[in-house]
Amino acid sequence: MSEIALRPFVWSDVPAITTIYRHYVDETVITFETEAPTEAVMADRFGKMADLGHPVLIAEDAGKVIGYAYASFYRPRAAYRFTCEDSIYLAPDAVGKGIGGTLLTALLDASRAAGFRQMLAVITAERANSIRLHEKHGFRMIGAYEATGYKFDRWLDIVHMQKAL
Ligand SMILES: CC(C)(COP(=O)(O)OP(=O)(O)OC[C@H]1O[C@@H](n2cnc3c(N)ncnc32)[C@H](O)[C@@H]1OP(=O)(O)O)[C@@H](O)C(=O)NCCC(=O)NCCS
Repeated sequence: MSEIALRPFVWSDVPAITTIYRHYVDETVITFETEAPTEAVMADRFGKMADLGHPVLIAEDAGKVIGYAYASFYRPRAAYRFTCEDSIYLAPDAVGKGIGGTLLTALLDASRAAGFRQMLAVITAERANSIRLHEKHGFRMIGAYEATGYKFDRWLDIVHMQKAL
């Protein structure tokens, strides 16, 4: 693997990030979406975050998009405006190499710079690697919620982790 480069999202990333995300919607319980969004829907979501000045980072390996991360409002109501939620998605063949940590470190810095004061991670409880990644970056476990999701014919628990920025 060559050096991983991080940079802000640009419009031409939409096809690659849509492909990465589709895998996790269609094949895993990592996201609770059950219908993979189209490129148009992803463009709309990411465009709104960019317009708000929220951090959206792309990881590249030799010019190929291999992952992305963003932080955006945890909840839409105004009093939550200093609290963000993070999301990180690596292409399947980029998982397990520490790239998630590189993205999360940069996302924490960018989120502070964007004015956020707290970051929440909402994680499917069985995803030990994501929980470990957040622990390593100073998130603490806030609580577990039982059977809050239902996907692929089974009930799913989630955990909330939090870090003050
Ligand atoms: C979750 C994700 C961002 C983590 O990034 P990554 O670069 O793959 O992270 P790694 O697996 O290399 O490392 C994460 C840590 O979890 C540990 N880990 C991996 N599998 C584990 C398991 N089954 N149990 C416990 N710890 C585990 C690793 O050892 C590592 O800890 P360490 O650095 O102390 O050794 C990435 O795997 C990913 O994009 N996954 C798919 C999408 C996803 O789950 N996103 C998170 C939604 S918020």
